[in-house]
Amino acid sequence: MEASWLVLLLRTGVQLLALPIYLLWYLGLWGPFCKKAFPHIMARIAVGYNEKMSTKKKELFSNLKNFAGPSGVLTLLEIGSGSGSNFEFYPAGCRLICNDNNDNFSKFLHKSLSQNPHLQLDRCMIAPAEDLQQIPNASVDVVVCTLVLCSVESTERVLNEVLRVLRPGGAFYFMEHVAGAAFSWCLFWQQIYDPVWQILFDGCHLFRETWKDLEKAGFSELKLWHTRAPLKWHLTQPHIIGYAVK
Ligand SMILES: C[S@@+](CC[C@H](N)C(=O)[O-])C[C@H]1O[C@@H](n2cnc3c(N)ncnc32)[C@H](O)[C@@H]1O
Repeated sequence: MEASWLVLLLRTGVQLLALPIYLLWYLGLWGPFCKKAFPHIMARIAVGYNEKMSTKKKELFSNLKNFAGPSGVLTLLEIGSGSGSNFEFYPAGCRLICNDNNDNFSKFLHKSLSQNPHLQLDRCMIAPAEDLQQIPNASVDVVVCTLVLCSVESTERVLNEVLRVLRPGGAFYFMEHVAGAAFSWCLFWQQIYDPVWQILFDGCHLFRETWKDLEKAGFSELKLWHTRAPLKWHLTQPHIIGYAVK
C-alpha cells in the first residue's frame, strides 16, 4: 500500500511529537518497559472490549463444540492468549492450551483461569506463535486467536503453524482488527498513526490486510465477515471475524 505525500508529512509530524519515546526506543529502554506495562494496559482494554464485543464473541464461539474430537473433549489452543479474555466463552470441559510470547501476562492469565473453573488447563507455553514446536502435528481440534495477528512478526508463518497443529477437519477461529476500506478516512489515519502506534502498543500494526493471508493460507473452507466493531477508537474499528476449517 503506497502512502501519499500528505500521509508521509502528517506521519512525520506525529513521529516528531513522539520523539521522547523514539529516544527511549533507540536507547533500548522502551522495549523492556513496554513488555512489562502492556499486560496491565491490555488487561483493562480487554474488559472494555469484551463489553462491546460479547455478543459477537458469543455468536462466533457458539459452534466450538461441533469441533470436539471423537472422545467428546474439545482440545483448544489459544495463541496470544494474553489476559485470558476469551476463556468465559469456551464450553465446559474444554481442554485448554495457552500460548503467548510475553510471560508478563501470566498473572492476568491465571486470574482468568481461576474465574473460569469450567475449563481444564492442559498447559501454558511461552513461545512465538510462529514456532509452536512443542505441539505435535494434528493434535488440536481448534485454534483461537483474537487481536493477535496485528502484532505477530509473520502472519504467514503463524498460519502455517496453525495448519500444522490442527487435526484435519479442525478449525481456526479469529477476531482481528484490520485495515480500513480503500480510500477511507479510517485507512488514511491508520497510515499516519501506524509507526507510533506500533511502538506504543507492543508491535501492533494498524492496517494489516489479514484477510488476504487467511485467503491464501490453504484452509479448505473459510467463513469470514468484515464488520465495524463498536469501539471508541475509530482506528481499530474495522474487523474481520470468522473461522477457517483445515
Ligand atoms: C492485543 S493482545 C490480545 C490478547 C488476547 N488475545 C485478547 O483478545 O484479549 C495481543 C497478544 O498477542 C501476544 N502476541 C503478540 N505477538 C505474538 C507472537 N508472535 N506469538 C505469540 N503471542 C504473541 C501478545 O503478547 C498479547 O498477549
